Amino acid sequence: MNVVPAYTIELLEGESDLDGLLEVEVESFTSPWTREMYAWELQNRSVCHIYIVRTPDCAVAGFCAFWLVFDEIHINNLALRPQYRGQGYGTALMHHVLVEARRLGARRATLEVRTSNAGALRLYERLGFYVAGTRKHYYSSPVEDALILWRDEP
Ligand SMILES: CC(C)(COP(=O)(O)OP(=O)(O)OC[C@H]1O[C@@H](n2cnc3c(N)ncnc32)[C@H](O)[C@@H]1OP(=O)(O)O)[C@@H](O)C(=O)NCCC(=O)NCCS
Repeated sequence: MNVVPAYTIELLEGESDLDGLLEVEVESFTSPWTREMYAWELQNRSVCHIYIVRTPDCAVAGFCAFWLVFDEIHINNLALRPQYRGQGYGTALMHHVLVEARRLGARRATLEVRTSNAGALRLYERLGFYVAGTRKHYYSSPVEDALILWRDEP
């Protein structure tokens, strides 16, 4: 069994957390979300929820951003800095998000993932997500289809 080093999962708070999150975006995605996009998210906090992973060495090692819409959450982004991947943080963060979503009244969760992102897909399937469809050419840089995943409360 993997031993996960000390960390906390917290709601994103101020501007300094946002700076860290934007770095994770750039390190993780070919079309990263911008400061303006996250500024909008932060002005709509009844819908938009962002959790970060903090470690003793890193204020924002990773994050997950989702929207709560009625009884569903739409997970928009999940990423860890490259040096923090493969150590269980992504799984821990997703567990936390799913528990929080349940507490907020959500009964289902959905997200999109690149068809080539086998690692992330495995993580999601282990958490109970299943493939429900595809969106053609959903992603750019490079253009690629998305798999649409759903997870229902057991
Ligand atoms: C996908 C991501 C968030 C996973 O977070 P993580 O902390 O690395 O994941 P974990 O350490 O909790 O791994 C959980 C499982 O996911 C799978 N996995 C995750 N990343 C993987 C990779 N790069 N290659 C293969 N398997 C991977 C493994 O099955 C792993 O299980 P294991 O411990 O039995 O090997 C992270 O790799 C990342 O930030 N990737 C770049 C951004 C991205 O693709 N985000 C998802 C967009 S939908």
